Amino acid sequence: MLDKIKKHLQDIENTIVTDAKELEVFRVNYLGSKGLLKGFFNEFKNIPNEHKKEFGKTLNDFKKSAQGKFDELQQKIQSSGVKKESPQLDLTLPGYPVNVGSRHPVSIIINEMNDIFSKIGFIIKESFEIEDDWHNFSALNFPEEHPARDMQDTFFIESKIKQALRTHTSSVQVRVMENEQPPIRIIAPGRVFRNEAISARSHCIFHQVEGLYIDKNVSFADMKQTLLYFAKEFFGKAKIRLRPSYFPFTEPSAEMDVYWGLETEVDHKITKGTGWLEVLGCGMVDPNVLDNCGIDSKIYSGYAFGIGVERIAMQRFNIPDIRMIFENDVRFLKQFTQVV
Ligand code: PHE
Repeated sequence: MLDKIKKHLQDIENTIVTDAKELEVFRVNYLGSKGLLKGFFNEFKNIPNEHKKEFGKTLNDFKKSAQGKFDELQQKIQSSGVKKESPQLDLTLPGYPVNVGSRHPVSIIINEMNDIFSKIGFIIKESFEIEDDWHNFSALNFPEEHPARDMQDTFFIESKIKQALRTHTSSVQVRVMENEQPPIRIIAPGRVFRNEAISARSHCIFHQVEGLYIDKNVSFADMKQTLLYFAKEFFGKAKIRLRPSYFPFTEPSAEMDVYWGLETEVDHKITKGTGWLEVLGCGMVDPNVLDNCGIDSKIYSGYAFGIGVERIAMQRFNIPDIRMIFENDVRFLKQFTQVV
């Protein structure tokens, strides 16, 4: 038995391992719970008493040697691992490129409009995209049988109270008027929904920036001046015209066109040969709407306007198809990286 152990001692001394896997084999063989060391200890009780001392000493040598060798080999493998990696670290290589995000074209336009109106004291207000009938329609003077409430235009939601996806952000104006007294000067940017067929020119989702100003003695001329300021700031154009129109919540109502000019072929295309670009709907807030929202129409008056964002974004960035705005293909979005 002693000879056997001594032979193993020799083997331990001569062991070489090249990787962690071989080291593990060594550990299992010699030091593991079913390894040689454990086996020899189990033999101890069978050794005659007069040999116990020598056997014990040899066994201790074996243990120390196996453990010592294991530690030594482990250290070698660990340090060689570090050495192997260091030459691979080439600090002169260029870094990994960082993907820079870009603003969505709709956000770019909305931010710009927010800035322009903020400069003249308008405050930005947002509210729910799911609205009840009152805030989206009734308070805004839509008669019960008005076609805009029709299934064709509105996404109704099946619920106990009559609810729908808002069809315009005028609903935000109602909520503000219900909660605040004039002077009120807000713009309401946001997403709106209409039950319309999707095509290159129209989509069931789009965005609006609507504005509302209510105070004593607010006149049509005030509205015209504010909209002219917007046309100058946003389009860089100095001429606007207001054409009579109709909205249930404004009286009188108008459409505003900006004079674009007819100098180039593109101008012809944008304005369909007229020189004028249709930009927004507007009008003096109907007294019924003010009264519906708890504002005394005998004391206060105001104007409102609503701008469709997508059409303007398409014109600004030359986007041929509105669907591109909502598909969010990275190849499309990447093109706006340079735009602030
Ligand atoms: N709410 C109208 C729409 O969605 C736009 C509008 C707002 C018109 C305010 C006049 C005044 O079409």
